Amino acid sequence: MHRQRKPTLNAYTSTVATSAEGAQAFPIPDNVFAETVTKVRHYTDRLFRFRTTRPASFRFRSGEFVMIGLPNAERPVFRAYSVASPAWDDELEFFSIKVPGGPLTEYLQKVKVGDTILMRKKPTGTLVIDALLPGKRLYLLSTGTGVAPFASLIRDPDVYEKFDEVILVQTCREVAELDYARELYEEVVNHEFLGELAAGKLRLYDSATREPHPRQGRVTDLIDSGKLFSDLGVLPFDPATDRAMICGSMAMIKDTKDRLEHFGLVEGANNAPNTFVVERAFVG
Ligand code: A2P
Repeated sequence: MHRQRKPTLNAYTSTVATSAEGAQAFPIPDNVFAETVTKVRHYTDRLFRFRTTRPASFRFRSGEFVMIGLPNAERPVFRAYSVASPAWDDELEFFSIKVPGGPLTEYLQKVKVGDTILMRKKPTGTLVIDALLPGKRLYLLSTGTGVAPFASLIRDPDVYEKFDEVILVQTCREVAELDYARELYEEVVNHEFLGELAAGKLRLYDSATREPHPRQGRVTDLIDSGKLFSDLGVLPFDPATDRAMICGSMAMIKDTKDRLEHFGLVEGANNAPNTFVVERAFVG
């Protein structure tokens, strides 16, 4: 006989979430946080940012990611999202792509202030300062939403205690997609407390590939041509002083990693710190 799978009573709390677009709301699984959306901002038709309340017990290291979902199904779809806000922030921030027909982002892009976001309780990830050996200059190399973990790191005072220079690099297809990181950069350098720490240390180097821009081209091409280094007025990557984190698509990670390895940098991990670390940006 066919037996229908039903959740056991104790698998769910009695709370029912507020869901996007007035869709049917399902009970919230008891092993996740249910947080409320506090702000939403759309940058382009492909990228948006949202902020949520933060559970009092939720601790994470800058650069880590969590699994995010929506209460729009009995078994919600969860996807990895880097926490873009710093550890000291009362709220959580996320930067997301909108994938037409994407199992999560198709719905997530419609969230409004007051809606509920589900979040699994355990953060994880390799884009953390602890996975790097001490160094002088930190490169944060990203494309698109890959900038999200770095949005957290550049707002972390610890980064400026550990490095003399922090260079945030982002390549996007369109110029408007670079706005999120530009605004963040301005926010940090003008921040009453962070601004002092980041002064003379934080630098932004962005480029666009599909629209005219003063720094046209992929980050990999800018490394190959040497333009990245000459524009910044620094010597090419040096494993003695330089550290790097990479976050982007699989192809971007592979191509950027090849460049770093060419200059003698070595991939590290939480349990084996070295001169660079990588993480795939969320897509889908
Ligand atoms: P391009 O416009 O030449 O494809 P996407 O939105 O597809 O993730 O791309 C974000 C940015 O990353 C785009 O500017 C894109 O450039 C660039 N990009 C895509 N693939 C790579 C790669 N293998 N190495 C470096 N940059 C890449």
